[in-house]
Amino acid sequence: MGNPAFNLHAFRTAQRAAPLSNFGRELFAGLSRPARSIPPKFFYDVAGSALFDRICELPEYYPTRTELRILTECASEIAAQIGPKAEIIEFGAGSLTKVRLLLDALDAPKRYVPIDISGAHLEAAAERLRDDYPRLAVQPLVADYTMPLVLPARGEGMGQRVGFFPGSTLGNFSPDEALAFLQLAQRLLRGGGLLLGVDLVKDPALLHAAYNDAQGVTAAFNLNLLRRANAELDTDFDLDGFTHAAFYNAPLRRIEMHLVSRRAQTVTLDGQRFSFDEGETIHTENSHKFTVDGLRALAVKAGFRPAAVWTDPERLFSVHWLQSPAAQ
Ligand code: AVI
Repeated sequence: MGNPAFNLHAFRTAQRAAPLSNFGRELFAGLSRPARSIPPKFFYDVAGSALFDRICELPEYYPTRTELRILTECASEIAAQIGPKAEIIEFGAGSLTKVRLLLDALDAPKRYVPIDISGAHLEAAAERLRDDYPRLAVQPLVADYTMPLVLPARGEGMGQRVGFFPGSTLGNFSPDEALAFLQLAQRLLRGGGLLLGVDLVKDPALLHAAYNDAQGVTAAFNLNLLRRANAELDTDFDLDGFTHAAFYNAPLRRIEMHLVSRRAQTVTLDGQRFSFDEGETIHTENSHKFTVDGLRALAVKAGFRPAAVWTDPERLFSVHWLQSPAAQ
């Protein structure tokens, strides 16, 4: 006999009645679909963000250092497009290294508004920036930048309002989501423009290496989703029962990342058992690659007027200056 005061059935029912977090609800929905998936936004808990920082330093992962090189080498041309006293709106808290390169090149930038859903991360980043740029108004905004949002009112004597969206994060959206984001940005940035970094279509062997690094950091980043689910949602994913897979889907011009079940197994989430066949996958990320012309056409569709574009000599990565015409 167990402890008579402990009612196992009531305990389990109460546990099940506890509402699932957003992550739990989206994972439940994703595992319930015939083609299983988890949205890539859930990669970025503390451990996942640290793993992503390590990815950016990997020899095979060329996007970060190539974009930094473009921003460094083309800084004065970029600054000439943007002009003096600009207001910079960064979508995502982002890498402070990248915005610093921009701020250092600009003529007396007035305000910096980083937008991110994670308030804690944002405030810490803002504080560091305030110390180093005392003449810059740093006003972080806790919000989901894929939803309509209200920016702080324009201050006296401000130059252009400039959106900054580096890192090819646009590539992690579906084509419809990418268009919707650009339309939203175009409306927010009227009379100014968007400085956008996107990864380019290239030799699939280079792409394959960038998402299948020799040290296994990308694999750890992918599998961290299951570790996170076990820690936060009390799932029972066997971390050795799944393996990382990343490949280039050439017709769709995207890297796909999956977690592949190594054997037949079941996983329980919120009292529901999900069965996996051997070889069945959970699709965790798409990373779309663009051509310069394709990106410019997409920008036009969203209401932008594409102006300058900068690339590295090997044309691995591109940075676009997209003007947003003032409302008529
Ligand atoms: C954040 N994002 C642009 C990265 C990418 O390349 O799609 C995320 C990533 N996934 C695996 N490696 C890096």
